[in-house]
Amino acid sequence: MTTHLHIERLRAQLLGKQGTASVGAATGPEQGPRATPAKVKVGPEHYDFAYFPELREFSNTQWYYNTQGYEWNMFRQHLGASSAVVEMDGRQLINYASYNYLDLLGDPRMQDAAKQAVDAFGTSAGSGRINMGEIPIFTEFEQLISQTLGVEDAVMAVNGYGANVATLGYLARRQDLVIYDELIHNSMLMGAKLSGARRLTFPHNDYDALEQLLVEHRQHYERVLILTEGVYSMDGDIPDIPRMIDIKRRHHALLMVDEAHSMGVIGPRGLGVVDYFGLDGADIDIHFSSMSKAFATVGGYIAGRKELIAILKHYAPGLLLYTAAPTPASAAAGLQALRIMHAEPERARRAVSNAGYFRTQARAAGLDTGLSHDSAIVPIMMPDGETAVWTTAQLFEQNICTFPMIFPVVPRNTERLRFFISAAHTREHIDRTVELLVDLRKNAPASKGLF
Ligand SMILES: Cc1ncc(COP(=O)(O)O)c(C=O)c1O
Repeated sequence: MTTHLHIERLRAQLLGKQGTASVGAATGPEQGPRATPAKVKVGPEHYDFAYFPELREFSNTQWYYNTQGYEWNMFRQHLGASSAVVEMDGRQLINYASYNYLDLLGDPRMQDAAKQAVDAFGTSAGSGRINMGEIPIFTEFEQLISQTLGVEDAVMAVNGYGANVATLGYLARRQDLVIYDELIHNSMLMGAKLSGARRLTFPHNDYDALEQLLVEHRQHYERVLILTEGVYSMDGDIPDIPRMIDIKRRHHALLMVDEAHSMGVIGPRGLGVVDYFGLDGADIDIHFSSMSKAFATVGGYIAGRKELIAILKHYAPGLLLYTAAPTPASAAAGLQALRIMHAEPERARRAVSNAGYFRTQARAAGLDTGLSHDSAIVPIMMPDGETAVWTTAQLFEQNICTFPMIFPVVPRNTERLRFFISAAHTREHIDRTVELLVDLRKNAPASKGLF
């Protein structure tokens, strides 16, 4: 288990996200004034961090790694760009844990763009964008991403997680309804929670269930937002966006698509769901992507109608308001990445075809790649969490870097290892990985049910 995973687990606990979700289950916060809770016996676990239960869980994981003699793989430093091969402690690891889909990390054109931006504007834009922090790079990016998606306008923010939280937290209100696939990313979930709107989930990709929720509930709410991802980050599958567009239209709802793992990757030109399904950009009401994956930088954007962008730019706290502008260097790298996506669509095709090769080889060897298709994310399903942790540790010893996804990040009995495939992975990397996975599956010790 990784620290990232631990943090995801904590978040999930704090947010009350369960491993499974049911149709029609209202998960929203209580409306109205809160009743005074029953008295509690106050103990150190309430005021001394050393007694917080989260820490105990974290220590258990460390204990497991120590007693098993596994190398602790969290917060390990690497040297150089985190590409398909990464250097760590003098070792060269085949790396499936970075989202560098297009292999743009370390690309000299990206670095030159970032350096020029620093030379021109310094290390920061100076303040929030709305005051004195606006620079031409932001608008150039926004114009090019709008043109790419076929929408009127866009806004770039300092990171993806915050952009999702700020957008949903602002757009949805208490009198509104947010309906989402049970597997949407934590940033959308957090935004929906923050909004105070009623929240309903539907089982993964179950469009009949989505429709049913709208039939039952649409009439009771003002704005209704439907949330999905372009490529699901745990499963590597692509939802039926055209069907969701049809549904949202018939019910006068708004559709928001998180393209963190699809933009720059899927579609004939690698330009995300619009490209993949041949859509009109205006069919999707709220386009979002993180810029920390295919764009090889940090940042996030929202794109859509000019009115949406105007509202968000001027009113959504945490998007541009009450927060700093993206750095000139990160924005310039994002703009350069977008230009490279247009000029070199073969990068996306290579990432997707490498992932296709991984899937084909894995399936031929009897491994289960879950729902993954046409994307650059390949899960390898595990019989249980402990086997997932064990397999990760063994791979790490063999210089292969991936991370286990276990409950509650994914529902029980769907534990997996997740492989992010890039344009730079070779057939040799993939063959060696699949071979090892097959060997490890044969030799995995019986699980004691620890995770
Ligand atoms: C699906 C999805 N949405 C949003 C985010 C948040 O993006 P960022 O890394 O830019 O904060 C991530 C990143 O992990 C993601 O996977």
